[in-house]
Amino acid sequence: MKPPILLTCRIPSASLARLDEACEVERLEGPVPPAVLADRVRGKHALICVLTDEIGRAVIDAGAGLRIVANIAVGYNNIDVAHARARGIVVTNTPDVLTEATAEFTWGLILAAARRIAEGERLLRRGAWKGWALDFLLGMELRGKQLGVVGMGRIGRAVAAKAPAFDMRVVFAEQGGDAAPSIEQASRLSLDELLVSSDVVTLHVPLTQATRHLIDRRALARMKRTAVLVNTSRGPVVDEDALVWALGERLIAGAALDVYEREPEIHPGLLEFEHVVLAPHIASATRETRTAMAGLAVENVLRVLDGQAPLTPVV
Ligand code: DGY
Repeated sequence: MKPPILLTCRIPSASLARLDEACEVERLEGPVPPAVLADRVRGKHALICVLTDEIGRAVIDAGAGLRIVANIAVGYNNIDVAHARARGIVVTNTPDVLTEATAEFTWGLILAAARRIAEGERLLRRGAWKGWALDFLLGMELRGKQLGVVGMGRIGRAVAAKAPAFDMRVVFAEQGGDAAPSIEQASRLSLDELLVSSDVVTLHVPLTQATRHLIDRRALARMKRTAVLVNTSRGPVVDEDALVWALGERLIAGAALDVYEREPEIHPGLLEFEHVVLAPHIASATRETRTAMAGLAVENVLRVLDGQAPLTPVV
């Protein structure tokens, strides 16, 4: 008999076919409320989920027969990993395969914020462009400026690696993770030193107790008035009330966000500002990367159900 498993999202057909061949797949389509998850996970041997699924104690306890929870995301703050581990359930994520896509998108946001691209497009679309002018929509040139990378893990390093293309120097601060090996031509600073001296601050930390509201009023007040903040990590790393305050007070020059504290809700204050770029959590959303993420999660499930070690366990 094929092992029963639960899948909470649509995945590419090749990955689905691999699953169907080996497992009895029950499919749900998100967002799936925790009560429904708890109900449907009963009797399943594996759960493949996404970052919008809350895999807390109740879901894990209901899935007493689970051998693996495979998250299709690199972040896994949506899963109570300690509880899963205590129940002998393996948790996996999808690192590496999304690093480049996320780094590329981060640069898209950096450019959009620094050069006011989204603001210009909105203005043009509402018919407000009066024509070329020497002093119109002036932004910040990146050349010669400092990129501050908060969290020098895989994605932080991939973002930093592209900085020389823009003639930017790189500094970094570690938060809540292992210290990264030093990267060439990047200086390590304290978070405070990074905030006061960087022209672009980009966040690449996982969401943990230590990083929740890492960027609060105090941190924002330390930034240069000409600096922009970019977040492609997790929304709650930034205190959005504090960000709205800092933007309103013009304590920073702008922000570009892909992630939010209460997705898909957007803080109404953020919507008021022209100098904020808002993207709908799509940093890893390329066809190539999403296919690879799903493929990796499926591979992890098939391996664990076959008694092998998963490729990318959460440690
Ligand atoms: C992740 O993988 O954690 C991203 O936020 C979604 O692509």
